[in-house]
Amino acid sequence: MRVIKKLAEMQAFADEQRCSKKKIGFVPTMGFLHEGHLSLVDQAKKKCEVVVVSIYVNPTQFALGEDLDRYPRDFKKDLELCEQRGVDIVFAPDNDVMYPSGFETTIHLNKTTSDLEGSSRPSHFDGVATIVTKLFNAVKPHIAFFGQKDFQQSLIVKRLAKNLNFDLKIEVCPIVREKHGLAMSSRNNYLSTGERSAALVLHKAIELAKEMVEQGKIDVAAIEKELNNFVAKEKLAKVEYIALRNRSNLNKIKVLKKGKTVLLLAVRIGKTRLIDNELL
Ligand code: PAJ
Repeated sequence: MRVIKKLAEMQAFADEQRCSKKKIGFVPTMGFLHEGHLSLVDQAKKKCEVVVVSIYVNPTQFALGEDLDRYPRDFKKDLELCEQRGVDIVFAPDNDVMYPSGFETTIHLNKTTSDLEGSSRPSHFDGVATIVTKLFNAVKPHIAFFGQKDFQQSLIVKRLAKNLNFDLKIEVCPIVREKHGLAMSSRNNYLSTGERSAALVLHKAIELAKEMVEQGKIDVAAIEKELNNFVAKEKLAKVEYIALRNRSNLNKIKVLKKGKTVLLLAVRIGKTRLIDNELL
């Protein structure tokens, strides 16, 4: 496994692979890797001859006052995990490589910036779209792998690739969960033991929603209300949003259509903001 920190070196490597007709699979991450990230690596290994993982905590997707400074980092362990999983290249640029002086060109999303994740993190998706674009131009992948865990992000990246004519495929892989159902996340590291069990309320709410669907409930407002009441019973939890939406464009809906709906949750457990989702 090779670690690349410079843009020109990454691009030269990508060109060599493309010239020898090798398919490049790419897994962008912010590091502090867990099985969720590594499941994307496994998928990439299945479908591509060369696998590149990027490890870069992108400052432009964090708003002032968010957790950029304390975002968990363990580069050494990340490298070990990548090596064990058969990654070929870890691309780990520094800030001055990604945002050198004179940097002023960004991607702006018109619609999605103010909805769901965007409503509490208004500049977040512009930062994600910008860094993902830059990473695509560095790694030049044939397929890029994203997790369903960040459902809105995966839709935005698909739209970004389509809107800006990127010559690559986006694959979205299922959510990997811990034993009791908590979706794996680098931010779970912030949770105390008590908060960790309180955090199970997200998965329990998903299970409750699935039961409601089984019972034939279709009134979206009523289901959202019941789920809000359920999560509110957990003292450490504070709901930011619980929403049922059209799964292909995240438009609001009044009636749940089986197979066409996604449930999205953002809940604060203490100071930690967790997100989860499920296709219904
Ligand atoms: P990060 O949060 O590190 O996640 C990297 C990728 O891993 C994302 O595609 C995310 O959806 C996926 N992932 C995280 N937890 C997962 C889980 N439990 N199961 C399956 N996949 C999971 O998302 C980002 O970084 C950044 O926004 C990034 C795209 C790298 C741009 O900076």
